[in-house]
Amino acid sequence: MTLLQLNTSLFSSAGQSSQLADRFVAGMKAAHPDVHVVVRDLAREPIPHLTAERFQAFLAEPEARSIEQQAVVEASDALIAELQAADVIVIGLPMYNFGVPSQLKAYFDHVARAGSTFRYTEDGPVGLLTGKKAYVFATRGGLYAGTPRDSETAYVRQFLAFLGITDVEFVYAEGLAISDASRQAALAKAANAIARLTGEQRLAA
Ligand SMILES: Cc1cc2nc3c(=O)[nH]c(=O)nc-3n(C[C@H](O)[C@H](O)[C@H](O)COP(=O)(O)O)c2cc1C
Repeated sequence: MTLLQLNTSLFSSAGQSSQLADRFVAGMKAAHPDVHVVVRDLAREPIPHLTAERFQAFLAEPEARSIEQQAVVEASDALIAELQAADVIVIGLPMYNFGVPSQLKAYFDHVARAGSTFRYTEDGPVGLLTGKKAYVFATRGGLYAGTPRDSETAYVRQFLAFLGITDVEFVYAEGLAISDASRQAALAKAANAIARLTGEQRLAA
């Protein structure tokens, strides 16, 4: 089994979302000692913003690509190959200014490629990354989950489903900025949810 961990916090592995993701991955390693873990840290190795030039590189015919376009396509291809190889995808997901980190948006913009990760059909787009399971560890200063103000969850679910990843589980740690007590309670609740999820993995192994 291959597990891809995407850390999207500004604070890399020190981010609270990355730490929850780490805790889950440690539990997965205990349940599946042979799991191959790949960590991609989008703060340490940022993906550039998508620009018209970069998007045109995706559209150019392979034989017509400039050297610059070829480099853009190869970098995107490498991200897609890493995603394709993963059976399990773990995302540490902070909320920044009511949405996903721009680092994650830039990553999404470079893995959504027609013909590679989705294709258009007469019935609409079809995701090509099927058979995967995703776990998302969402951390927020305030409280949003289950309310219409949580556009982040809907967006991430919709994007992953567009690529064919429909089996997605969210664990939230919310209210981290409200008070010490609220923070501690939220982290304890998230730790319990992680223990339950990794316990299920142990039973299934
Ligand atoms: C730049 C920035 C913007 C933030 N915006 C929000 C926000 O819109 N809503 C919220 O509830 N918390 C917000 N927070 C708090 C973070 O969601 C919270 O600290 C979270 O735990 C960060 O996760 P991380 O440590 O993995 O980066 C923001 C934090 C930062 C640094």
